[in-house]
Amino acid sequence: MKTAILLAAFGSRHQKARESIDRITQRVCQEYPDIPVRLAYTSKIIRGHMEKVGEAVDSVPEALDKLLSEGVTHVVLQSLHLVPGKEFHELLNLANDYMLKDNGFNRVEVGFPLVAGEVSLKKVADAVLSIGLEGRGDHDAVLFMGHGTRQLDGSVYYEALHRFFQEKDPTVHMGVMEHQEEAGIETFIQRFKELNVKKAYLLPFLFGAGWHVVKDMVGDHENSWQSRLEAEGIECEAVLKGAGEYDRLVNIWLAHLNDAIRRLSRC
Ligand code: CO
Repeated sequence: MKTAILLAAFGSRHQKARESIDRITQRVCQEYPDIPVRLAYTSKIIRGHMEKVGEAVDSVPEALDKLLSEGVTHVVLQSLHLVPGKEFHELLNLANDYMLKDNGFNRVEVGFPLVAGEVSLKKVADAVLSIGLEGRGDHDAVLFMGHGTRQLDGSVYYEALHRFFQEKDPTVHMGVMEHQEEAGIETFIQRFKELNVKKAYLLPFLFGAGWHVVKDMVGDHENSWQSRLEAEGIECEAVLKGAGEYDRLVNIWLAHLNDAIRRLSRC
């Protein structure tokens, strides 16, 4: 049995977001010093960018092929995504394909993304809520910006987090950037106007503080969330820190990874 860990991140070309990826990679290496740890990006667009600047990063199939050629027999494929959306489901398919194909792995276990499903949602929601409340100060509302997904079974988690926050503290909200208009910024602008919110505390619910944070959350153009809110007279304070920069969230990913490693050793 020759084991390897493959971390699958969406990827980012932004230095600051890459620091999040480096940080979690380091934590994994520290925790499992005897197991080789590799990194792959699931985003084709980001991989293209990285290649152009001479810092090519493998896709998941490329990284799995390399591990096979090195004689690895057992792999933990750990998702570094936030919700089980399109990318995560693609990892499940790849795990299936690489176990069933000729000369494939003996076993590939996929580690859950941060939100592992409805059953364990509370743990993530509590941790994210605590991050929002910690810095809220005298802001009237806390607004997280999630990515959003077209995938039905991924999109439900943003709404579920929003409902959880609202039950615990009605000043905390979860919105999404794209694909799910009903949870987009327009909805929150209307709500904040009704609630007479004057100051909002804005945080990303994204792995790293990369492109979407810099451009879509706080960008210096009229369509960023901050500009849209400010145009309505709502003052904003933004936190430029991704999920991968909070130990309490990284610990949840590491717990999923640990479960997957324990499943591997069961066979
Ligand atoms: Co995106």
